[in-house]
Amino acid sequence: MKHNIAVFASGNGTNFQAIKEAVDRGDIAANVTLMVCDQPGAAAIDRAEKAGVDTLVVSRKDYPTKRAFEEEIVAACKTHTIDFIFLAGYMRLLGKTLLEAYPHRIVNIHPALLPSFTGLDAIGQAFRKGVKITGVTVHYVDEGMDTGPIIAQAAVPVKDDDTIDTLEARIHETEHQLYPQTIAKMLAE
Ligand code: GAR
Repeated sequence: MKHNIAVFASGNGTNFQAIKEAVDRGDIAANVTLMVCDQPGAAAIDRAEKAGVDTLVVSRKDYPTKRAFEEEIVAACKTHTIDFIFLAGYMRLLGKTLLEAYPHRIVNIHPALLPSFTGLDAIGQAFRKGVKITGVTVHYVDEGMDTGPIIAQAAVPVKDDDTIDTLEARIHETEHQLYPQTIAKMLAE
C-alpha cells in the first residue's frame, strides 16, 4: 500500500515541486495528499493547486495558541490519512501537538551540513563564514531548531568565484535531488 504524505511549506515551494514530480514519475511510492502552508499568498500554494494537491493554508495569528494552530493542522492530516510529513521550507518550529501526533514521522530538509549553520539564512551564514564545503541535510524533526537525528547529507563545494546566488542555486539543485531520493528510500523500507 502506498503511503499518504503531506508536504509543509512557507515560501517558494520548489522542494514540494521536486517531491511531487518524483512521485508522478513513480520514483517515490506515495501519494502527495496534502500541502500545508502557513503563509497565505506563498508561491507554494499555487504550485500545489496546479499539481492538483489539496491545500490547507493556515495563519498562526488566527489562532489563540500554538496548540490550537497545530490541532487544526493535525485534524487536516488525519482527514487526509497522512502517514508521513515532509517539511520543505516550512519556517516554523514544531510543537508537541504535531510531534506527538506523528512521532518519528516528520522529516525536514535544511540547506547546510548540520550541525553547522542552523536556523534562518543557512546558505548566507555558510557563505559569509567562508567555508569551502557546505551542503544539504535531511533529518528527523524534534522540538529543537534543526537538531533531530540526521538521515542523509550531500556535500556542496564552495567555488572561489561563487556568489551567494550561484552557491544558493547549487544548494537548491542538490536539495531537489537529495530530498526525493531520501524519501523514496525511507518509504521503500
Ligand atoms: C530550502 O532551501 C530549504 O532547505 C530551506 O528553505 C528553502 C525552501 O525552498 N529550509 C530551511 O532553511 C529550514 N531551516 P523552497 O520553498 O523553494 O522549497
